[in-house]
Amino acid sequence: MMKKKLIEYEKEYYPFHMPGHKQGRVNPLKGYDFFKMDLTETDMSDDLFHPKAYIKESLDRAKNLYKTLKTYYLVNGSSSGLMTAISACTKRGDQILIQRNSHHAVYNGVYANGLDPLYIYPSYNEELGLFGGINPDNLRQLLITNPDIKAVVITSPSYEGLILDIEMIAGIVHEYNKILIVDEAHGAHLFFYDFTPDSALAFGADIVVQSLHKTLPALTQTALLHINSNCVDIDIVDFYYQMYQTSSPSFVLVASIDSCINYMTSRSLAKQMAYKEMLFNFRNQIKQLEHIGLMDDDFITQLAKSKPMYIKAVDPTRLTFIGKKGLLDGKGLDEALQTRFKLVFEMASLNYIVGISSLADTLKGFGLLYDSIELIGAMYCVDEKSSCQTDADFGIIKVVDKVMKPSDAADYDVTEIELDQAEGRICSDYIKVYPPSIPILVPGERITRSMINYIKQLDAFVIHGITDNKLKVLQ
Ligand SMILES: Cc1ncc(COP(=O)(O)O)c(C=O)c1O
Repeated sequence: MMKKKLIEYEKEYYPFHMPGHKQGRVNPLKGYDFFKMDLTETDMSDDLFHPKAYIKESLDRAKNLYKTLKTYYLVNGSSSGLMTAISACTKRGDQILIQRNSHHAVYNGVYANGLDPLYIYPSYNEELGLFGGINPDNLRQLLITNPDIKAVVITSPSYEGLILDIEMIAGIVHEYNKILIVDEAHGAHLFFYDFTPDSALAFGADIVVQSLHKTLPALTQTALLHINSNCVDIDIVDFYYQMYQTSSPSFVLVASIDSCINYMTSRSLAKQMAYKEMLFNFRNQIKQLEHIGLMDDDFITQLAKSKPMYIKAVDPTRLTFIGKKGLLDGKGLDEALQTRFKLVFEMASLNYIVGISSLADTLKGFGLLYDSIELIGAMYCVDEKSSCQTDADFGIIKVVDKVMKPSDAADYDVTEIELDQAEGRICSDYIKVYPPSIPILVPGERITRSMINYIKQLDAFVIHGITDNKLKVLQ
């Protein structure tokens, strides 16, 4: 039975992954029976899409708290918020500028509205396989040479916790009268903490989308869409908002959003302080280790000496482990943490692993993580690439050959073909490594030999968009 399996997971493993309530260790809905709260829209129960009573009061409170023009509660995750934002700021066929390493949801928005995406390529550290931020000069140049761009979509923080200079980016985007949409799916907590950089809301982003469920104590799928400037037409946002939400939004999820925000603003101060202390003690302990470390501002400053990274700060709550001297065998360490210590991380890359911490974490959890890393961390720090590491270079997405708009690929007949035979053909699906669900190939892009070689090296990963993972069949 599934419920038994889920409960067993909860008993057996400690999660350094989402959701941020960490299996109910912090539960702002404690004491409430989800089934009793699970209603439909009646005259007495209010309606998320036409709120009149307590949902309206809750939405008004959120708007006042975040100081936005309007804040929407999303029950289909940030994915639906990004699609809403992108659709609301563009008309069919328009040009949009997006960071090439955007999450799949951004591409879905592009696809749904038949948009023509232009890409801004983030800086990329080849050795770590790590994306950084965007070069402001490139951004300006793209906006000058492509005056038809309607909106710009960027991601901050990244999965690894890298935060961009939103103020500078917003300044440039607004100079050319475009709309800035920030995918802040991984940064819903930034608004609340005094020990992290602030949310993009404070730095002039026009629209900000945040997943509450990733880093705060809220149920999976809960997220917010903030309209932060009057250059966005709220009537159009309303239209798409309803299009991308289920027509039966869960009252339990809506209550989870309301109680999460309420908890963060009025009931969690002691918990926040305890979390801050645990987190920074943990970071200080890890700092003393010789071989393995956590990504932080100093590390990025160091990286940026060889090549600009365009990163403003590192989110201290994000636990991205790296090798201090050589490389870290991310896949190996991730597996060892899981099997030996029952610690589950959010993502393992070839050269680092990403853990999500939240105020629901416990001293015991941090203690176990420290002890495990102290014991085995150095064993996974290697001078050279290990057998599980490859020369796979995600930077390859820089050389994509876009033949047509992604949605135009749907107009053609599709055939399945083995990866090795695919050179020169045009991809009809998204090929992406999961997580982080960033497309390597996008519909409408030509498949090159180097792309084929790259995908062949990704055996250690789950690849979406490949029909048969062994033979690697592409559409
Ligand atoms: C950068 C980024 N944006 C958007 C999303 C989508 O968020 P959600 O799961 O809330 O739909 C994710 C999900 O992992 C993500 O990593």
